[in-house]
Amino acid sequence: MTLERSNRLQKLPPYLFADLRRRMAAARERGVDVITLGIGDPDSPTPDPVVDELVRAMRDETDGNRHRYGCDVPAEGLPLAIADFYQRRFGVTLNLDQIVVTMGSKDAIAKLPMAFLNPGDLAIAPEPGYPTYNIGTTFAGAHTHYLPLRAANGYLPDFDELSAHVRQQAKIMWVNYPNNPTTAVCDAEFYRRAVAFCRQNNILLASDLAYSENTFEGYVAPSALAVEGAAETTIEFFSLSKAFNMTGWRVGFAVGNSEAVAGLRSVQENVDNGQLRPIQLAAITALARAQALIDPLNAIYQRRRDLVLETLRGLGWTVDTPRGTLYIWAPVPDGFDGSSVKFATHLLEQAGVAVTPGIGYGEHGEGYFRISLTYPDDVLVAAMERMARAL
Ligand SMILES: Cc1ncc(COP(=O)(O)O)c(C=O)c1O
Repeated sequence: MTLERSNRLQKLPPYLFADLRRRMAAARERGVDVITLGIGDPDSPTPDPVVDELVRAMRDETDGNRHRYGCDVPAEGLPLAIADFYQRRFGVTLNLDQIVVTMGSKDAIAKLPMAFLNPGDLAIAPEPGYPTYNIGTTFAGAHTHYLPLRAANGYLPDFDELSAHVRQQAKIMWVNYPNNPTTAVCDAEFYRRAVAFCRQNNILLASDLAYSENTFEGYVAPSALAVEGAAETTIEFFSLSKAFNMTGWRVGFAVGNSEAVAGLRSVQENVDNGQLRPIQLAAITALARAQALIDPLNAIYQRRRDLVLETLRGLGWTVDTPRGTLYIWAPVPDGFDGSSVKFATHLLEQAGVAVTPGIGYGEHGEGYFRISLTYPDDVLVAAMERMARAL
């Protein structure tokens, strides 16, 4: 049988982490004891109250729906808990038709373009940026127009760079703050500009808040939906993954413009069957107790952030102190021709430490690398010691 992959699959760049995993496996096979600092997947467990609620709900024999297709047995309280959370956390009032539960945000981010893009359309995505914006757009047969994020501009996009053609063809514009991979944060003023730009050009603003709760030292990430009138043009993606150490649970939500929400829901209805009801019920517990659950987790990441920054700065690095995300974004040191792959390969070979080369997030990520803080303190300490020796 000849089985040829579809054009759309062939068009995708190699999945960044798949490549990283392959290179680490090869190094391990050669006998290198590899410490990976590559992937943003929280190491510490989901908080007890959330786990307890999952177990209770799974064991609840009075709930005959607990094992069924989640789409058919939605946890009625979850949309209400989402609305309540958004009101408390962001000062944003949501109606129920502005809320859709998702299976994490990666899945929903990949699905949104299928609802609104046709071949020939454009989506605008930040670069460096999270690869799934482009992947969803490519699967929808449309194209990504990348908008560079530059250090000199605080890693905020400059909408003036977008040509009349792009403004006309674009149907979706992705923004993501706190930002992966650059760790940059934005203020409410940025969202005011983004909403105004999207309204003017009839573009759906898609705001990815995957890291909105992973913030430090009093910085509180705003929501684009807090801008007056934003719900006319904006859909926002929130995930419980990084906020509550729930990456494997696959639960999040999208909120905002009701037509955008309905379009996403329609794609979901056609391709998935929703999330397990006990997971939906546990998500209610997480959202209801958000602040108390999140603060201790952020204290852990802040401690690790400072530990890594101290080592890098001790080695002569100039690195920004992130106010959000689970990462450190640092420039490639001298001696590697500015190549993030050369540097990451050197670290892997010489120190057995795997970091993510910035080029994997787009060409403006070249010259940088990313360290993830989702590893235990002793692993980070060992990695920093090895790095110090190898450089
Ligand atoms: C910027 C950004 N958005 C979305 C996601 C998706 O997270 P999840 O699907 O676990 O909600 C990630 C995961 O790393 C991310 O970095």
